[in-house]
Amino acid sequence: MMNVILLGPPGAGKGTQARILVDGRGMVQLSTGDMLRAAKDSGTPLGQKVAGVMARGELVTDEIVIGLIEEHLREQTDAPGFIFDGFPRTLAQADALGLLLSRLGRRLDAVIVMEVDDTALVERITARSTCGSCGEVYNDQTKPIPADGKCSNCGGTEFKRRADDNEESLRTRLLAYYKETSPLIGYYHAKGDLFRVDGLGEIDEVSAAIGKVLDNL
Ligand code: AP5
Ligand code: MG
Repeated sequence: MMNVILLGPPGAGKGTQARILVDGRGMVQLSTGDMLRAAKDSGTPLGQKVAGVMARGELVTDEIVIGLIEEHLREQTDAPGFIFDGFPRTLAQADALGLLLSRLGRRLDAVIVMEVDDTALVERITARSTCGSCGEVYNDQTKPIPADGKCSNCGGTEFKRRADDNEESLRTRLLAYYKETSPLIGYYHAKGDLFRVDGLGEIDEVSAAIGKVLDNL
């Protein structure tokens, strides 16, 4: 049983690595970004409320995302472990997660910071697409959609680009990261939970580095 946070700026590879951990270790991915996009796509009141904020690259309120995480944690009581992808993003969210986990009798085992530079992020994000059926993440340069046009994970044939994957929204997302989220690095360092991983290597190299951290816990 292991609970891990993947922390890093937009495009660092959090979603990509979370899916690898799901496949390899049976952990459960909790991505607040994916949850909010699902709410938006299904047109729920919550989805309608957050669509504009997300497209601009601003943060959704703490109240909303903490509520979503709480709901998922309570629903999946027999999960062998959670990977938090894109949550927490503010100090208030980090405090709330600590409280939630302890109420559920769980603990946080590691916070993995994926270190990348901003130039790589712009290149990664503007080349990204995702499978419309299963959410598998692709990249025009580094992980292209298979030549037969079918998702390698589920065989789906529809691929989407995100509304916030443009240069202007990315600038806002980066600013939000440095202003609101990067203080979490110091916060978790002080708690003794922090591990740093070079996020600039190949996808396999990054997952090997993350695997090493988890195996040594
Ligand atoms: P969210 O969906 O979390 O977006 P993000 O943090 O901006 O991160 P991304 O999903 O863009 O990047 P990633 O690190 O997952 O990278 P990926 O693996 O896809 O949040 C979206 C929005 O929702 C926020 O802006 C906010 O509005 C709202 N929100 C969500 N959570 C919130 C919260 N807690 N509080 C408040 N608001 C919240 O990889 C990117 C690309 O690079 C892909 O094409 C991939 O194939 C490629 N790639 C990955 N790894 C490598 C590698 N090692 N080498 C080469 N290419 C690679
Ligand atoms: Mg993601």
